Parts: sequence; structure tokens; C-alpha cells
Amino acid sequence: MELDEIDTVGVVGAGTMGNGIAQVAATAGYDVVMRDVEQRFVSAGFEAIDDSLDRLVARDELTREEADRARGRIDGTTDLDDLADCDLVVEAVTEDMDVKQSVFSDLAETCDPEAVLATNTSTLSITTIASAVDRSERVLGLHFMNPVPVMKGVEVVVGEKTGEETLALGHAFAEDLEKETWEADDKPGFVVNRILMPWINEGIRAYDEGVAEEADIDRGMTLGTNVPMGPLELADHIGLDVVLDASETLHEELGDRYQPAYLLKRKVAAGDLGKKTGAGFYEYD
Ligand code: CAA
Repeated sequence: MELDEIDTVGVVGAGTMGNGIAQVAATAGYDVVMRDVEQRFVSAGFEAIDDSLDRLVARDELTREEADRARGRIDGTTDLDDLADCDLVVEAVTEDMDVKQSVFSDLAETCDPEAVLATNTSTLSITTIASAVDRSERVLGLHFMNPVPVMKGVEVVVGEKTGEETLALGHAFAEDLEKETWEADDKPGFVVNRILMPWINEGIRAYDEGVAEEADIDRGMTLGTNVPMGPLELADHIGLDVVLDASETLHEELGDRYQPAYLLKRKVAAGDLGKKTGAGFYEYD
């Protein structure tokens, strides 16, 4: 299959990552089917897309007509069978191996054997996800960054059985969405989260151990190293539950140097998950 044979893209999961991926694929001209398990999640996904497209129009990155055309290319559904004609599907459901394997097994039954099946997993094994299907050479990782419409990079992850053609299509597809790619082997956390998660956890420990106030930890890192967000603000942006989940997977696979910070676990237990719940290391309106 060549890139120009990919017309329709499926996205499974309409949450933060899924709706962002649906939006950038539609903006690049693909017809998109965005699926979630309940209509209210699909509707929330469309609201996020509308908001993001409005912001891009306000910044003159898209014209109103381009934004409206992109929006018009996305269909929402709760029925996985509606992805039957998709040439490429990106799965962006919860970071749970059983759930992901079950989605992949359903996709293998629904989609054409030639369809590329990508997972947006941030830390789970591509090879293990792919073991749920009879065509693991068509499976790869396409790890988008949050917020998807703004971030320029996509990590292309190579599973044990990922085929050369699938890999080439993964790069070409991401580049067609105006993203730049890099390749990572299927090892825990790939490139980004393997390095980002210990950085965030060390920021949390430094705060918890009284090295500096929250804002000074973040100011130190932004002013001192020119990153756009310090570790605590970035953790709130990603979602503390997502950070804890990724940290626990890395800890399990790579040992004690990846142990999640105690305060991260305490905040997640308290339901303070960052921006999305209105409180994390900072308060949000
Ligand atoms: N859609 C469209 N536009 C958006 C947007 C979205 N979803 N999110 C932000 N923007 C726009 C804003 O509207 C704003 O535009 P204006 O300047 O015209 O108002 C612009 O981007 C800048 O946003 P803000 O002023 O709100 O704040 P900012 O300057 O701090 O930029 C940011 C926001 C782009 C998120 C920037 O802070 C940043 O790059 N932060 C780091 C993000 C990052 O590292 N992401 C990767 C996380 S790791 C990951 O995703 C992997 C994983 O598996 C966990």
C-alpha cells in the first residue's frame, strides 16, 4: 500500500489524544471516523476539536473555510464496525494492555487485512499489543504528543514484527500531517517518556523534599534550560494520572530508578489530576 491509497483514517478513542489526531488527519485532507464507546465521549471530542480549530483560525494558522472543511471530514460513531473501510486506524484508548488488545482484536476482524493498525500508546509494548492480531506486520506505534494540533513531533515505534512497508507508511502518514518523525525501538517508554518521566518525577521529588516552591522548580527549569514548561506544570498539562500510569509501567519494566514520586501517587489518589480536574500542582479555573 502507498500513502496515496490511504483515504479514510479511523481513530479509536475521542479523548485528548484521539480528538487531536482526528483533527490533524482531517486538516490534512483525510476522511476521518472517530469512535468512542459512548456518544457523550464522541460529543466531548468534537467540542475539543471545535475549540482547537477556532484557536488555529484566531492565530491565522487556518482559514475559517479550511477549519470548516476539516470539521466536515470527521464523522463520529460509537460503532467499531463503522471503521470497516478505514485504510489506517490509530488507537488512542486508555493505557491498559487488555483494553488495547481487545480493540486490536476487534479491528482485525472489522478492517481490511491490508489496513495499517497504529497504537498511540505512550509506554506499553507494541509487540504485545500486536500479538492480539493475525497481522502483526501491519501494526506499529504512532505516538503523538499533547497537544496534538500544536506539537510538531511523532514518535514512530517499531514492534518486533512491524513490516518495512508499515513503517514507511507510518512515517509518510505522520509527515503528511505536517509532523516530523523519529524512530524508536519497542522498549519501555520509547525515547520521549523514558527520558521525560524521570525528569518529571525528579521535579516532584524536589518539590516534595523542600528544594523550592512549585513555581520556582518550574521557573528554574524554564529559565535555566529553555524548555516551554517546567516539570510540575507539564505534569498538570499531561494529567497526573497519565504520568503516574506511565511511571508505573516504566518502574515495572526498568526497575527502581523509575519509581514514581510519592507525592504524585498521593495527588492522583486525591483526584487532583492536573488541568483537567482544575487542580494538580497548581489550581486552574
Ligand atoms: N489547539 C490549538 N491551539 C492551541 C492548543 C490546541 N490544542 N493548545 C494551545 N494552543 C495555542 C494557544 O491557543 C496559544 O495561541 P495564542 O498564542 O494565539 O493564544 C498558543 O498555542 C500558545 O498557548 P498558550 O499561550 O496557552 O501557552 P504556551 O505558550 O505555554 O503554549 C504549549 C502551550 C504549546 C502547550 C507549550 O506550553 C508547550 O509546548 N508545552 C510543552 C508541551 C509538551 O511538552 N508536550 C509533550 C508532553 S509529553 C507527551 O505528550 C507524551 C506522552 O506520552 C505523555
